Amino acid sequence: PRRMVVVKAAEAINPDIRKTEDKVVDSVVVTELAKPLTAYCRCWRSGTFPLCDGSHVKHNKATGDNVGPLLLKKQ
Ligand code: FES
Repeated sequence: PRRMVVVKAAEAINPDIRKTEDKVVDSVVVTELAKPLTAYCRCWRSGTFPLCDGSHVKHNKATGDNVGPLLLKKQ
Protein backbone atom coordinates (compact mmCIF):
# COMPACT_ATOMS: atom_id res chain seq x y z
CA PRO A 1 0.00 0.00 0.00
CA ARG A 2 1.15 3.54 -0.74
CA ARG A 3 1.72 5.91 2.14
CA MET A 4 -0.19 9.15 2.02
CA VAL A 5 1.92 12.21 2.77
CA VAL A 6 0.02 15.25 3.99
CA VAL A 7 1.78 18.52 3.19
CA LYS A 8 0.51 21.56 5.04
CA ALA A 9 0.60 24.95 3.36
CA ALA A 10 3.22 27.27 4.78
CA GLU A 11 1.94 29.22 7.73
CA ALA A 12 3.33 32.09 9.75
CA ILE A 13 4.81 31.18 13.12
CA ASN A 14 4.35 34.57 14.69
CA PRO A 15 0.68 35.48 15.13
CA ASP A 16 0.99 39.01 16.57
CA ILE A 17 4.36 39.93 18.08
CA ARG A 18 5.89 43.19 16.69
CA LYS A 19 4.30 42.64 13.29
CA THR A 20 5.24 46.16 12.13
CA GLU A 21 8.91 45.04 11.99
CA ASP A 22 10.32 43.41 8.83
CA LYS A 23 12.12 40.85 10.99
CA VAL A 24 11.97 40.42 14.75
CA VAL A 25 15.55 40.13 16.04
CA ASP A 26 16.57 40.45 19.69
CA SER A 27 20.06 40.62 21.17
CA VAL A 28 21.37 39.62 24.58
CA VAL A 29 24.83 40.83 25.60
CA VAL A 30 26.75 38.24 27.64
CA THR A 31 30.35 38.27 28.80
CA GLU A 32 31.23 34.56 28.61
CA LEU A 33 30.96 33.52 24.97
CA ALA A 34 33.53 31.68 22.88
CA LYS A 35 32.60 33.54 19.69
CA PRO A 36 31.84 37.26 19.15
CA LEU A 37 28.36 36.51 17.78
CA THR A 38 26.09 33.48 18.02
CA ALA A 39 22.63 33.41 16.43
CA TYR A 40 19.99 31.12 17.91
CA CYS A 41 17.06 30.00 15.78
CA ARG A 42 13.53 31.05 16.71
CA CYS A 43 11.80 29.93 13.52
CA TRP A 44 12.17 26.21 14.10
CA ARG A 45 13.36 25.70 10.50
CA SER A 46 17.14 25.68 10.97
CA GLY A 47 19.13 22.68 9.79
CA THR A 48 21.61 23.47 12.57
CA PHE A 49 19.04 24.04 15.34
CA PRO A 50 19.35 25.49 17.93
CA LEU A 51 21.69 27.69 15.91
CA CYS A 52 20.33 29.86 13.08
CA ASP A 53 21.41 28.87 9.56
CA GLY A 54 19.46 31.60 7.74
CA SER A 55 16.44 29.37 7.00
CA HIS A 56 14.17 32.06 8.45
CA VAL A 57 14.70 34.10 5.27
CA LYS A 58 13.04 31.41 3.13
CA HIS A 59 10.29 30.93 5.71
CA ASN A 60 9.56 34.68 5.85
CA LYS A 61 9.38 34.93 2.05
CA ALA A 62 7.06 31.92 1.79
CA THR A 63 4.70 32.97 4.56
CA GLY A 64 4.92 36.74 4.97
CA ASP A 65 6.14 36.11 8.49
CA ASN A 66 8.83 38.22 10.17
CA VAL A 67 10.72 35.83 12.42
CA GLY A 68 14.45 36.13 13.03
CA PRO A 69 17.15 34.79 15.34
CA LEU A 70 18.17 35.65 18.88
CA LEU A 71 21.67 37.13 18.68
CA LEU A 72 24.12 36.60 21.54
CA LYS A 73 26.99 39.08 21.34
CA LYS A 74 30.26 38.88 23.21
CA GLN A 75 31.04 42.12 24.98
FE1 FES B 1 15.59 30.01 12.37
FE2 FES B 1 17.32 31.81 11.49
S1 FES B 1 17.09 29.78 10.86
S2 FES B 1 15.84 32.05 13.02
